[in-house]
Amino acid sequence: MPTETAPAKINLALHVRARRADGYHELETLFVFARDGDRVSVSLADRESFAVTGPFAAAVGPAADNLVTRAERAFCQAFAPDARHSITLDKHLPVASGIGGGSADAAATLRALARLHDVSQETPRLMTIAAALGADVPACLLGRATFGRGRGDALTRIEGLGDMPALLVNPGVAVSTAAVFARWDGVDRGALATTGATLARALAGRNDLQPPAEAVAPVIRDVVARLRACDGVVVARMSGSGATCFALFEDAAARDSAAARIAIETPDWWQSATTIA
Ligand code: C5P
Repeated sequence: MPTETAPAKINLALHVRARRADGYHELETLFVFARDGDRVSVSLADRESFAVTGPFAAAVGPAADNLVTRAERAFCQAFAPDARHSITLDKHLPVASGIGGGSADAAATLRALARLHDVSQETPRLMTIAAALGADVPACLLGRATFGRGRGDALTRIEGLGDMPALLVNPGVAVSTAAVFARWDGVDRGALATTGATLARALAGRNDLQPPAEAVAPVIRDVVARLRACDGVVVARMSGSGATCFALFEDAAARDSAAARIAIETPDWWQSATTIA
């Protein structure tokens, strides 16, 4: 039974450059991936089934229509029209939270099904299916440090962060990606650096969705402020459209102290002490 991790996706920087006629936005972003995330298992079955386990199972629900089941249907149409699958999603990442969630799960489903059916992960059609499922799904399908342009789905490989210690923190507020993009003020604040080391590019950049997300969920300001106040922080910023924020640390000890401090100060917030590849 192939099982694939659906690692948390982090946007180290995200520059919104323009609104498009199709309702999407032109953007430039640095995608990286954490060590930890959800898990998707698939196996052949007599009839379709979908189950959700894990700490955030209730937030997904057993609905027959979600990004995992949509990914499965699209895969079958392309590669295995007569196959039926039993799928389990083990949900550890908060939903609607700016770290991939459904996109990462859809990508992990495609990877797991590709393994089950001996379809090469390099097959261009797999990437086409991913792009149709959502703007972030192609980056999640690659699952490696990537520079994204266009909707976020025109991808160029970049060097990763080499397992840099990181802390992800979510204050428990679900934020709609569409609502945050809709609140962007339309001001192009300039390009993301196209050359240089990934971390330097991130440090010189910003997340243009942070102000509109803070307008939707003011608690995000508090999350970033608490992360910035921790010792050994290299950068603290919101990921994607929020509300999850990340901090990168000089070393694992600094990350673990920060995690302990956040757990004491704000015990209701979700956090993941991880590394970023
Ligand atoms: O592609 P996906 O369904 O993940 O996108 C969710 C929503 O985020 C879109 O409907 C759109 O409102 C917004 N979005 C955007 N520009 C992007 C990516 C997403 O406006 N580049």
